[in-house]
Amino acid sequence: MKRIGMLTSGGDCQSLNASMRGVAKALYENMKDVEIIGFLEGYKGLIYNNYKVLEPKDFSGILTEGGTIIGTSRQPFKLMRVPDENGLDKVKAMKDTYKKLKLECLVILGGNGTHKTANLLREEGLNVVTLPKTIDNDIYGTDITFGFQSAVNIASNAIDCIHTTAASHGRVFIVEVMGHKVGWLTLHAGIASGADIILLPEIPYDIDKVVAAINKRTEEGKRFSILAVAEGAISKEDAELPKKKLKEKRAKSKYPSISYEIGERIKEKTGQEIRVTIPGHTQRGGSPCPYDRVLSTRFGAAAAKLILNKEYGYMVGMRNGEIVKVPLEEVAGRLKVVDPNCSAIKEAKLIGISFGD
Ligand code: F6P
Repeated sequence: MKRIGMLTSGGDCQSLNASMRGVAKALYENMKDVEIIGFLEGYKGLIYNNYKVLEPKDFSGILTEGGTIIGTSRQPFKLMRVPDENGLDKVKAMKDTYKKLKLECLVILGGNGTHKTANLLREEGLNVVTLPKTIDNDIYGTDITFGFQSAVNIASNAIDCIHTTAASHGRVFIVEVMGHKVGWLTLHAGIASGADIILLPEIPYDIDKVVAAINKRTEEGKRFSILAVAEGAISKEDAELPKKKLKEKRAKSKYPSISYEIGERIKEKTGQEIRVTIPGHTQRGGSPCPYDRVLSTRFGAAAAKLILNKEYGYMVGMRNGEIVKVPLEEVAGRLKVVDPNCSAIKEAKLIGISFGD
């Protein structure tokens, strides 16, 4: 009998269950005697030996279910080598659990931090296969991550809804979109929902350029403007500050998030009425969109194929529409950011979208 461990780690997203289902169905279908063990709440389950044996029925009916049936948690990579409050060596504990359960391999679904730990476990000699999960779409080595497209749908829908109320009242609306340090989600949701101004962490903004774009619309007779602002958007001045200084400045800031600061600046300079909307974690919730269901099923089946072939130490990814396997050492510690000169941004600028630069 082969025993496969599975865990979901980091922030959740809509298509985790669909991905696990893909792995499980392909394994049950193609491997004779296989048992899948689900570690509860991510790496925590592996560290503290907390798991449940999953059965084929557990993977039925979950294709459309958001969240994760085995739970998740954030276990920062930088603390993995630091003993816990009881002095437990976490890396050793994970290896002990793996050995005690006589696992053939670990299937790990997660984002950037998760991939650093997955690579660490690979270096420690464990068999690991990973799947790229995140609404942020910032994992190196794959064109797309599962969860991203579902989040684009939700963020776009939020901006669509703002359009009608913004137009009725003639207001400037800022919609703050998730994405941590990268702007993929904001870029796609912004273009998809006709935002007038899109501010991304990768393109530090000049507030006067943002104001100029709003004033231009007002002069053209447009009564409202919509800004899609990434939660990690940054001004030109702040981008020049040393990291430590920026951290200190942000800690002292009176604004709950960057959108409120941008809103106040715009109000001062234009006198227009401003509103801020933050869809927040709704962007990670609900059912996966059909695109993600297909992607997750493909990723899941591809991960199972790696296990069947005993090819370990890889993340499954997608490049130019084809499934690829990417060595974990290439993925770990690298971020896929938006290139400010990419063609999507050039085309957006061609239709008059301002990036505040
Ligand atoms: O990485 C996914 C993500 O939703 C980011 O877009 C966001 O910055 C972060 O997680 C929020 O984290 P938490 O759920 O821990 O508040």
